[in-house]
Amino acid sequence: MTLDFILANIILILLSLNVAVSGFFPARSLDKLYNFADCAGLHLIFGLNALHRNPDSSWNSSSALNLLKYSAAKKYNISWELGNEPNSYRSMASRSVNSSRLAQDYALVRKLLQSVRFYSRANLYGPNIGRPNKNALISLDGFLKSGGSVVDAVTWQHYYIDRRVKKVEDFMKTRLLDTLSEQITKVLKIVQTQAPEKHVWLGGVGPAWAGGTNNLSDTFAAGFLWLNTLGIAAAHGIDVVLRHTFFDYGYNHLVDQDFNPLPDYWVSLLFKHLVGPRVLGVHVAGLQRKPRPGRVIRDKLRIYAHCTSFHK
Ligand SMILES: *[C@@H]1O[C@H](CO)[C@@H](O)[C@H](O)[C@H]1NC(C)=O
Ligand SMILES: *[C@@H]1O[C@H](CO)[C@@H](O)[C@H](O)[C@H]1NC(C)=O
Ligand SMILES: *[C@@H]1O[C@H](CO)[C@@H](O)[C@H](O)[C@H]1NC(C)=O
Ligand SMILES: *[C@@H]1O[C@H](CO)[C@@H](O)[C@H](O)[C@H]1NC(C)=O
Repeated sequence: MTLDFILANIILILLSLNVAVSGFFPARSLDKLYNFADCAGLHLIFGLNALHRNPDSSWNSSSALNLLKYSAAKKYNISWELGNEPNSYRSMASRSVNSSRLAQDYALVRKLLQSVRFYSRANLYGPNIGRPNKNALISLDGFLKSGGSVVDAVTWQHYYIDRRVKKVEDFMKTRLLDTLSEQITKVLKIVQTQAPEKHVWLGGVGPAWAGGTNNLSDTFAAGFLWLNTLGIAAAHGIDVVLRHTFFDYGYNHLVDQDFNPLPDYWVSLLFKHLVGPRVLGVHVAGLQRKPRPGRVIRDKLRIYAHCTSFHK
């Protein structure tokens, strides 16, 4: 089975990195990455390095502009974002970028895109905040309030579980499944207040944070979380779900280091082939009643209904 008939239409973030801390990302790497995405029928969203900063802490856009000019000359159809989990820069990179600063930086990215003719209508996504805890939500609110609404869709991320969790039972807890609904509700509330016309994307989601758990987040045990993600997100009107990751160094990936498909890859393939974008509201009689503690099924059942996909 080849990639091109697989996840076409799912937009995957293949790269959302702050790796280029030196401001240096070799052109040949971009060529390879773009060619891979293009051959596989995927759309590439490139995460520009948000931590390349001037002494006054404004974003230094010089290498981003070079990259844009290079990829425009190559006619690479790419969408853009700036940085990854900006609310965690303090803990991850000992730097901090507040939400009004970040909003100005995004406005600058938009200006750069407009200045390079090929990208004058390119899409820009952000702010790509991490799991919506209190800080992340404050930062999202501030970002949108300060003009971050230059983005074409508002992005945020969700991970279900700590990668130090080692037991398969812990991946099966139905309480975990519900955490996503709670997070979506919090994010939508902010977007509806600050930028109600914006689409909301789940810009990164995986079973476990910090790279996932060997022999768990890459197995069928994690499939419930993935299916649940796709079902809940669709039911809440989240347009696009980006899996973190397709391929990487950790265990949340869909293919292993040799590109062999893993269980969630097959789940994704089936989902894309069978499940269409139209969501039906379903209620299961009997589940609404308050469950009696200690009784069998309790809240173990999840049902989602969609019209059939016409995707080939
Ligand atoms: C921005 O970064 C470039 C290197 O990518 C550097 O040459 C330039 O001096 C920086 N600009 C400022 C204002 O720091
Ligand atoms: C670029 O890709 C997007 C997303 O797949 C698509 O909607 C758009 O039509 C493409 N633009 C061009 C010029 O091919
Ligand atoms: C945000 O950070 C910038 C410098 O990075 C600073 O000038 C500004 O006062 C800060 N704004 C708030 C609201 O803290
Ligand atoms: C993962 O599972 C395989 C097969 O059951 C086993 O050989 C291996 O030791 C496991 N690795 C870890 C880190 O648990």
